[in-house]
Formats: sequence, C-alpha cells, structure tokens
Amino acid sequence: MKTRYGSFDINDSDMTNQGISVSNAENGGFSTRRTTAPDLRTRKAAGERIVVVTAYDYPSARLAERAGIDVVLVGDSVGKVILGYKNVIPVTMEEMLHHVFAVARGIKRALLIADMPFGSYQVSVADAMHGAVELLRAGAHAVKIEGGESVCETVRRLTEAGIPVMCHLGLTPQSVNRFGGHRVQGTEQKEAERMLADARLLEAAGAFGIVLETIPAELASQITAAISIPTIGIGAGAGCDGQVQVWHDLLGLTDGRTLKHVKRYAEVGSLIEAALREYADEVRKGSFPTKEQSQ
Ligand code: KIV
Repeated sequence: MKTRYGSFDINDSDMTNQGISVSNAENGGFSTRRTTAPDLRTRKAAGERIVVVTAYDYPSARLAERAGIDVVLVGDSVGKVILGYKNVIPVTMEEMLHHVFAVARGIKRALLIADMPFGSYQVSVADAMHGAVELLRAGAHAVKIEGGESVCETVRRLTEAGIPVMCHLGLTPQSVNRFGGHRVQGTEQKEAERMLADARLLEAAGAFGIVLETIPAELASQITAAISIPTIGIGAGAGCDGQVQVWHDLLGLTDGRTLKHVKRYAEVGSLIEAALREYADEVRKGSFPTKEQSQ
C-alpha cells in the first residue's frame, strides 16, 4: 500500500525503521537493539559516551549503521553540504523530508533525529507540531530545534504529544544572520549564565538532549554537569556526554577552510577524485571497458 507524505508517495513496506528491535547481520557485531531517546539519558548516567554523525542519504545511513554509530542526525546542514546553499536558511521541510525518507530506509538500529528547518517552528507551536509529525511519519524518531527559553513551550507541547525533542544551543546555524560569522559563543559571563539557564529550562520542558555548538569547553562541561539529559558537543570540548560531526567534514569531503573542531578521519574526496580521473583517462584511452566488463 502507498501512503502520501508531503509530496512523496512511499510504500508502507519501505518503512522498515518503524520496528523496535531488529535482527541485522550487517551491523558489524554491534547490538541489534534499537537505540531510543530515553536510552541516551541512561547512557549519560552510566558514563557511556554517545556517538552522533550526520547523514543525508541511504548508503551513508547503511555505513553509519555498520560502523555502530548510536545516533544519526539528518541535519539541516544538508543545505550546505549536499544542496550547495551558502547556509542552512533556505532549507525547506520538503527537502528535509526527502532526505529523512532516504536515511530512514538505511537505518535499523540507530536513533534517527531530524532537524526542523528554519521557519518551521518559530512562528507557532501548531506549525512545529505539524512539521514534527511529518518528519516522524517520514521515519525520524525524534526532532531537533534550536534555541533556549523561547522554544520551551514548543518543546513541552511536542514532548507531550509523544515527539522526543533534542535542542541546540551555542552557535546555532539557523541564527547565522544574527551572529554574523563563525564566532565562539558563551565567552562573556552573562551569555554563559544565560546558556546554562537555558539548558536547565530545556531539560525541565522535556528535551531529551542538547547539542552544544562552538562554545568554550569549560562552559560545556559546566552545562553537562548541571543537567541530567545528555549534551552532544560539536566544537565544545571533551566534557560533553557525546560528540556529533558532520559527515562531509569527518570524511574529507569538504573543500576550503576546515573549522577548528573538525577532525578529518579520512580523505574520501581525494579518493573519489582520483578514481574519477582514472576512469576518465581509461575511457579516453579506450582501455575501459575490457572483455571482462563486456557481455
Ligand atoms: O545540521 C547539522 O548538521 C547540525 C549539527 C552541526 C549538530 O545541526
């Protein structure tokens, strides 16, 4: 049977990630039990670090699964790294849904969080509810929104409706126009106190975790110690309960300046370029295809 979600039709049988526990031979020996939003709090309490990576398509989701990643985030960073936008502002709900559908088909065990794009939750709680429902129907298990006190009512209402919400403080990408550049946040005493207060309010509102982006490591540790929900850091030091990195940064698929918080674990971009050059060269020379690749 086909169901219509936004402007997409999908087969109900494609929604493989709606199950709770799966048996998966491709998981590289990691637990096959689905990670849930409440599990993250348990992991924090047990002192187990949480591994988060962004992904935007089916093959990447499958690789993340096989590598035993705990949480996959379909971030609105999709706008920059996949769609070629200058920042995350133009990303629409339709675009997010398109990528969430793809990632969801590759996810069996990891927790799948989807970013709510700019403009989809700032205007009203009703908008937020509608968008979050669409993202969950597309296969996400939870949503992420940016902001502190100003989004607490939204966090509360979504959580009450059964939608787990992760929040995001610090250098929040959807406020790029307010920040005016890539600057460390929370360096002033007042700002740091505000962020700590926001984190406490978000926890009280029902958030199940908070991403802390580009803030001093000491402040991130202080926030982490002050709340019982996990903090997931990006450019926020080693004191957070987990870390998140953007797929393309981690794997060397981005050009230009590498931000301080990025560690490139591979240079996949260079590998792809070399392979493409070799292919082009062989086609032009007539050495590909050979008999081996012919019918
Ligand atoms: O969109 C994204 O990739 C994010 C991460 C940077 C946390 O929000």
